Amino acid sequence: MELYLDTANLEEIREIAGWGVLSGVTTNPTLVAKEFAARGERLTEEGLAAHLRAVCEAAGGPVSAEVTALEAEAMVTEGRRLAALHPQIVVKLPTTEEGLKACRRLSAEGVRVNMTLIFSANQALLAARAGASYVSPFLGRVDDISWDGGQLLREIVEMAQVQDLPVRVIAASIRHPRHVTEAALLGADIATMPHAVFKQLLKHPLTDLGLKRFMEDWEKVKP
Ligand code: G3P
Repeated sequence: MELYLDTANLEEIREIAGWGVLSGVTTNPTLVAKEFAARGERLTEEGLAAHLRAVCEAAGGPVSAEVTALEAEAMVTEGRRLAALHPQIVVKLPTTEEGLKACRRLSAEGVRVNMTLIFSANQALLAARAGASYVSPFLGRVDDISWDGGQLLREIVEMAQVQDLPVRVIAASIRHPRHVTEAALLGADIATMPHAVFKQLLKHPLTDLGLKRFMEDWEKVKP
């Protein structure tokens, strides 16, 4: 399973890319808005384009950039514009009627599409039939309403395998490290997570304690 960052923050991307384990990045309108707000910058067409290009360079892999249009025609126009920014851009579309129409058109043009806001296996099936390259079921948001995000992911992964769907499954809306383990065990192709969760994947108190003891013992005898 590949590991992606779910962020629009360049420092976070550069840090994790530096570990040598980052395969890509996903963004959404909330994450981009947060990034520009944090920098006190007004979001402009040019500013967004420059930022997405920088994200691509830092990520070194696919970067999902989401459209904000709600109608198919406008989604296609926006999607084409996003895809033209950088070869690594994957256009993210919401799983709605209009999103499906736009997915069919953009994928026919060779644009890679990530269908997002997926909360059922049938939505994933529709997205795959519309030519999506990726589907993004939202584990955390399903768990948030006391449903089972793992069960949703299990169904989608199994359906993709049984039906031999040419689509990669991105476990999204990851909230904690157990979600990542669960997604890997269930056979997700990719898990995308916030920077804080990425850091948590690595941390273990026994690793820190063990290393401290190794160093202390070494200090006593080192030449
Ligand atoms: O980017 C899509 C998804 O990962 C959002 O996660 O935490 O806002 O539910 P979250």
